[in-house]
Amino acid sequence: MMELFSLKGKTAIVTGACGLLGKHHCYALAEAGAKVIAADVDEVASKKVVQELGEGHMGVGLDVSSDLSVMEAKESILERYGKIDVLVNNAAINDMFENPNAALELSKFENYPISLWKKSLDVNVTGVFLCSQIFGKVMAEAKQGSIINIASTYGVTAPDQKLYQNEKGEQTFYKSASYPTTKGAVISFTRFLAAYWGDKGVRVNALSPGGVENGQQEFFKSNYAGRTPLGRMAQPTDYKGAIVFLASDASNYMTGGNLVVDGGWTII
Ligand SMILES: NC(=O)c1ccc[n+]([C@@H]2O[C@H](COP(=O)([O-])OP(=O)(O)OC[C@H]3O[C@@H](n4cnc5c(N)ncnc54)[C@H](O)[C@@H]3O)[C@@H](O)[C@H]2O)c1
Repeated sequence: MMELFSLKGKTAIVTGACGLLGKHHCYALAEAGAKVIAADVDEVASKKVVQELGEGHMGVGLDVSSDLSVMEAKESILERYGKIDVLVNNAAINDMFENPNAALELSKFENYPISLWKKSLDVNVTGVFLCSQIFGKVMAEAKQGSIINIASTYGVTAPDQKLYQNEKGEQTFYKSASYPTTKGAVISFTRFLAAYWGDKGVRVNALSPGGVENGQQEFFKSNYAGRTPLGRMAQPTDYKGAIVFLASDASNYMTGGNLVVDGGWTII
């Protein structure tokens, strides 16, 4: 039975490999036996992640929103490993405001900057498209592979803006339209590609994680936990099993799905 989950002899690319979750996706895939290619716009950090993984893995600098950059990465990956078995489209950007004091006003839908909207579409949607096209073509030609697109609970349900209200009931921030829009697109794109490449043996699934604890303010963590059936935010390690499941033969008959791992967030 456990053989089904083995990734021995497989190569797996993780984009956005140096972030909070990307690192754990890399650890999970390596622990299951894969050779991991940690790909991130931060090349130096990608090499560090690889050092933590041990021998046989590879760090590459890669901007998912640039076709040239993805093509270059593909060449160096194929030169070293000769094949691609798994692609985790994990890189994404979330709302960030240079000046935190301006965040409340700028995060309102009425004021949200078009530049941030375009940047989110570029990285979160076009990035998934480009990596799937360029790396996935190698899989389709080999008639095998698994693509995992990291979406979000916010691609399934609308953001609950009450989460961002502090103990005094003051709204501190609004989750913008761009993040849920891009994550909804990722789920839709997943269905498109799963249907398109079904006959090529390339499986394409989405994984929708819930919110991960990462030094947020106490009021936010408490609001989040209170609205979640399992009563807590996720830990970054909570998705390791789901990643290996989707990457491996354990999910052999699954394509076009959206595996929601969210402590029950989306059921209420
Ligand atoms: N953290 C959460 O609570 C949470 C919840 C649900 C879904 N997700 C999703 O999980 C994924 C990972 O989230 P995270 O919290 O680890 O994010 P993060 O911000 O910690 O990491 C993102 C990584 O992507 C890299 N990156 C950004 N732009 C890039 C580009 N153009 N090309 C290549 N790499 C780029 C960054 O350098 C960074 O290492 C994202 O798709 C995110 O939307 C996260």
